[in-house]
Amino acid sequence: MADAFSVLRRDHEKVERTLAALEDGPNAGSGADQGELLARRKLTQQLITDEAVHEAIEETYFWPVVRDRMPGGGELADEAIGQEQAAKQVLHLLEQLGAWDDGFEKLLREFIAAARDHVAFEETKVWPGLREVLSTQEISELGEKLAAAKEHAQA
Ligand SMILES: [Fe+2]
Ligand SMILES: [Fe+2]
Repeated sequence: MADAFSVLRRDHEKVERTLAALEDGPNAGSGADQGELLARRKLTQQLITDEAVHEAIEETYFWPVVRDRMPGGGELADEAIGQEQAAKQVLHLLEQLGAWDDGFEKLLREFIAAARDHVAFEETKVWPGLREVLSTQEISELGEKLAAAKEHAQA
């Protein structure tokens, strides 16, 4: 049975692995060759796709529950969705650039920092309070919905 927090956590971990790989990988400034730059561009595209799916699923299924059930949930949801929208704009700009273009690394660094802050916000400011107000059954029902939406998005 899926648990909502485990489903979301798995996505966060995958995003973090990609962020770390991008952070550690060779880039235009560190003398990456063309193949490495193309691989960097491809990994960035994977990040953009994973992020888009994850945030869209949260916006459809997760934030409405936070809003309805958690004390102060409306404000938390607004703040988190604001972070997601800002990140989307950065990714949209990043998507138009190659890893060899000026500005790519700066935008990527900006995104990496914002993405980590956003994940920390969700996991520390939202999840503990939501766990308290949802029953085990509600947490697994929400998990099923999130997992099904994810499967559908990847199909
Ligand atoms: Fe999010
Ligand atoms: Fe998330």
